[in-house]
This record gives sequence, C-alpha cells and structure tokens, in this order.
Amino acid sequence: MAPAAPQTPTPETTPLGHQLFTRIRLATPSDIPHIHKLIHQMAVFERLTHLFSATESSLSATLFSPTVQPFHSFTILLLEASPTLFPVSTFDSNPFFKPLTEVVNLRLPFEDPERDTFKSMDDVTVVGYVMFFPNYSTFLGKPGFYVENLYVRECYRRMGFGKILFSAVAKEAVKMKYGRVDWVVLDWNVNALRFYEDMGAEIVEEYKFFRLTGKALQASGHAH
Ligand SMILES: CC(C)(COP(=O)(O)OP(=O)(O)OC[C@H]1O[C@@H](n2cnc3c(N)ncnc32)[C@H](O)[C@@H]1OP(=O)(O)O)[C@@H](O)C(=O)NCCC(=O)NCCS
Repeated sequence: MAPAAPQTPTPETTPLGHQLFTRIRLATPSDIPHIHKLIHQMAVFERLTHLFSATESSLSATLFSPTVQPFHSFTILLLEASPTLFPVSTFDSNPFFKPLTEVVNLRLPFEDPERDTFKSMDDVTVVGYVMFFPNYSTFLGKPGFYVENLYVRECYRRMGFGKILFSAVAKEAVKMKYGRVDWVVLDWNVNALRFYEDMGAEIVEEYKFFRLTGKALQASGHAH
C-alpha cells in the first residue's frame, strides 16, 4: 500500500516555527479593528469589561489626530510577528518612528489560535500593543510618559515581547529627554508586578490613584 500523503496543516494549527521576525511600528487608523479587539482582551484579562464601552468609532474619533505628532499625544505602538522577513513598506519611511525589528529565537514552536483574527498582512500577525501619552512632572520640570496599556496576546507571553514593547517606550522617553515613565497596575496582577520589577521599575507605595467619572464628574464640572 502506498504511504499516506502528508496532511496539509490548517492555518489554525500550523506552528510558526522556532524563529520569529518581530517589528514594532506606529499604529495607524487602519489598525483600529485590531486595536479594539486587543483593548477588549485587556479588559477581559483585567476583569473590567463592565468599564469597557470603547467602540471602533469612538477609538477612530479620538485616538489619531492629523495635526498632532505621535509621542506628543495619544500614541500606540503595535508589535507584529512574522515567520518570514518583513517586506519593505511605508512604515520604514515614517518620519516620526523608524520601526524596531528583531529576530527572536523561540525555545519551542507554538500555535496562535487567533492568527486569522489578528492577521495584519500576508504572514504578519499583531502580537500586542502599548498605548501611552505625555504627562508632566512639575517637580522634575520635565514631561514624561504615562502608559495606559501594555498587552501581549496570551499565546505570545514569556517570549520577551512585553519587554521589547515596554523598552520601545523607555527608548523614546530617553530620546526625548523625558524625566520618567509612569503607569498603574492592578494589585492582584502579580505577573505584571514581577514583569515590571524585572524591568527595573519601582513601586511607588505612598500614592493612591483617584478617578472622577460619571455623575460625580458631571457634578464637579457644574459645581460653580
Ligand atoms: C505583563 C505582560 C505584558 C508581560 O509580557 P511578556 O511578553 O509575557 O513578558 P516577557 O516575556 O517580556 O517577560 C520579561 C520578564 O518579566 C518577568 N515575567 C513576565 N511574565 C511573568 C510571569 N507570568 N510570571 C513571572 N515573571 C514574569 C520575567 O522575569 C520575564 O523574564 P523571563 O521570561 O526571562 O523569566 C503580559 O504578561 C501581558 O500582556 N499580560 C496581560 C496584560 C497585563 O497584565 N498587562 C500589564 C498591565 S499593567
């Protein structure tokens, strides 16, 4: 009997192999559908979906401004991965941010069950994102960055991707001579706490995080 022909693996089960090409680039309005899904995953992870009301159109209307340069307002860096070299693209000539590329050697092959959902072009898949914007420290007399979200999709965790995304923000802060990078972490998120400690960050224990929203915000806005 002739040997059975090898089965062609389906896209869902094809391992990407041991070597991955990665690229960090500025997000653009056409990335909104992926960004929206990633933010929703972040809300699920943080058990905060009751606070999630963002839509693709609310993100489109508020995230990207044609008149403000990236890094001077809301900024999203996307991390993408590909089993093959990234082709030359218009991202390479972006005047505000030259994509950061790296080849990552993985210890084990792995599968991405959401590869089709997060496909950005041919072989390229969106792995995660970091969203941040400038703040200001009067004490330092310098701007800094506030990181709103850092997220790596589950099947890509513990491969160094969080570190390269976060380092991209730190690198930009250094380049712009900013004084610091701030963010908050949910107290139960011990993995993230370990991750940030590993990055050399320190926990600032003496602050409490406040928020004014909903009716209280309306009342305060109409107080006088
Ligand atoms: C936190 C997060 C961004 C880290 O991304 P990542 O790609 O998994 O992290 P890295 O692989 O770059 O990890 C770098 C180092 O951080 C530490 N670290 C990361 N995840 C860890 C975990 N689950 N447990 C213990 N240490 C961890 C390790 O020291 C690790 O180095 P090592 O793997 O060589 O030991 C990712 O887990 C994530 O998206 N989580 C869900 C969302 C979230 O918590 N975001 C942060 C909210 S503020």
